[in-house]
Amino acid sequence: MLVDVRNRMAVALDVSDLDRAEQLAKEVAPWFGVAKVGLELYSAAGPEAIARMRGLDLDVFADIKLHDIPTTVGRAARVLGRQGVRYLNFHAAGGVDMLRAGVEGLAEGARDSGQAPAIPIAVTILTSDPDVRAFDDRLACAIEAGCGGVVCSVDEVGRVHAARPDFVTIVPGVRFADGAHDDQARVGTPERVARAGGNLLVIGRAVTGADDRRAAAQRVSDAIVSALEGD
Ligand code: C5P
Repeated sequence: MLVDVRNRMAVALDVSDLDRAEQLAKEVAPWFGVAKVGLELYSAAGPEAIARMRGLDLDVFADIKLHDIPTTVGRAARVLGRQGVRYLNFHAAGGVDMLRAGVEGLAEGARDSGQAPAIPIAVTILTSDPDVRAFDDRLACAIEAGCGGVVCSVDEVGRVHAARPDFVTIVPGVRFADGAHDDQARVGTPERVARAGGNLLVIGRAVTGADDRRAAAQRVSDAIVSALEGD
């Protein structure tokens, strides 16, 4: 059970200093099996950020949210695939052709460099955006393009799994009931996300901004376990 929960928790390393990111990742690695390298850290440290997290034996979620013409996205995805990321995301707003190019590029990159297959993920709607009207169209694009999952809020996990039970749902906007929402509009507690069937919980400030990060990580982990055990 413990190992399973760890693979459902991704820590958002939203810092611009790689040593600091590594220190954070190490500190919470007993609870988090996935390191999320986002735009800030990747802009600062590039492929080295991915290599260092892999060196800690963590899976890497490259939260780069690619969105450009299909050729450019496909080529960038290939480069990231070669670096051994486990998850890479694309903005579903870029459309089916762009997503498909990303899916193919990522698979090629992983294959060329002998890495395990990576999972292409579509960002449906940012959790900071309260307007979710485009959700169904974006999910349909992700399905048609051959993605393996989506980033969505806790409110949409059920809709995703109703359409595609095998899709990985990656859910940011995780907050303790007594915690600050910061800039997130659509949030859920760890219990609620786990009960809804969210597969990978992205947790940033609720843990990285806590006075006692280890205690906060343990609290998230316990909440997921108790939700999954149904008590
Ligand atoms: O600190 P917090 O838990 O809000 O961090 C959430 C993380 O998830 C951030 O790194 C943010 O970029 C990312 N994210 C998000 N909404 C999405 C996709 C990614 O908040 N739709």
